[in-house]
Amino acid sequence: MAPRPPPLEAFGAGKVILLGEHSVVYGHPALAGPLSQGVTARGVPAKRCQLVLPSTLNRHQRAQLTAAFARAAKVTGEPPLKVSLDADLPLAVGLGSSAALSVACSRLLLKAAGKAPTAKETARVAWEMEQEFHGTPSGVDHTTSVEERLVLYRRKPGTAVGKGRVLACPKPLSVVVALAGERSPTKATVGALRERQARWPERYQRLFKEIGRVASEGAKAVEAGDLAALGDAMNVNQGLLAALGLSSPPLEEMVYRLRGLGALGAKLTGAGGDGGAVIGLFLEPAPAVAKLTALGVRCFSSQLAGPRAS
Ligand code: PMV
Repeated sequence: MAPRPPPLEAFGAGKVILLGEHSVVYGHPALAGPLSQGVTARGVPAKRCQLVLPSTLNRHQRAQLTAAFARAAKVTGEPPLKVSLDADLPLAVGLGSSAALSVACSRLLLKAAGKAPTAKETARVAWEMEQEFHGTPSGVDHTTSVEERLVLYRRKPGTAVGKGRVLACPKPLSVVVALAGERSPTKATVGALRERQARWPERYQRLFKEIGRVASEGAKAVEAGDLAALGDAMNVNQGLLAALGLSSPPLEEMVYRLRGLGALGAKLTGAGGDGGAVIGLFLEPAPAVAKLTALGVRCFSSQLAGPRAS
């Protein structure tokens, strides 16, 4: 018997937002970088285009994923493929798992359809899926996942998707990602904030604008290799997110823990709310990861930019 061809494979990276979540939805810049963790999609030839749903998902998540996959399948011409997913990224905590999954599936379906999975094409298909997951996302998650580089992302008001400018950092830029419990879905947190800002637009728009300025200052600090300035921008951003009502005791406690362990800056990342992921900027992340792990905190480190040791 002839050996079976190896399955088609594609990867989508998770992301962390260093500065500017939420205000990015309102047209302000955000600074985000890729994680080495993400989602791998694998495909084997089949009679039709189909997805094997992960057994760990609840009913709502299954329905959402089915609808998102159907949109990607449609725009890639329904290549006959059975797709399965494998994630090494904590799900639904603010680390861009839906974008990672969207990018992995999009690359795989494009390849299977005989089309080149260029950044532009991948982003176009992934955007279809992201809209199904999040309603009206800013686009920062899937753009960072597609680029796999540190980006300063901005969506101009009135446009559907924005652009990411790739940033170089002359020094290694590493974060510790620590999990502070479960949280509500992004859609709910973004929706509740939208209601508050519709009620008190001037105050909320002032805060969004300030976060956008802090993100731009953070981007300059990255390009100058000034990690102390970037850390300070992260701390200020955390205060502004708390002012917007997006932090909570589990997130604050983790932020102060990371600062206590020597983080140059620490803040929630992603939608925030009642829990989720917190990031700390560290010159040497390994000792902090070891201490947190010993205390039973789920955490890991990731280098987002800059020269690598090897
Ligand atoms: O928590 P996540 O990974 O879904 O990130 C959401 C980021 C937001 O800025 C809150 C929403 C968006 O669409 O940009």
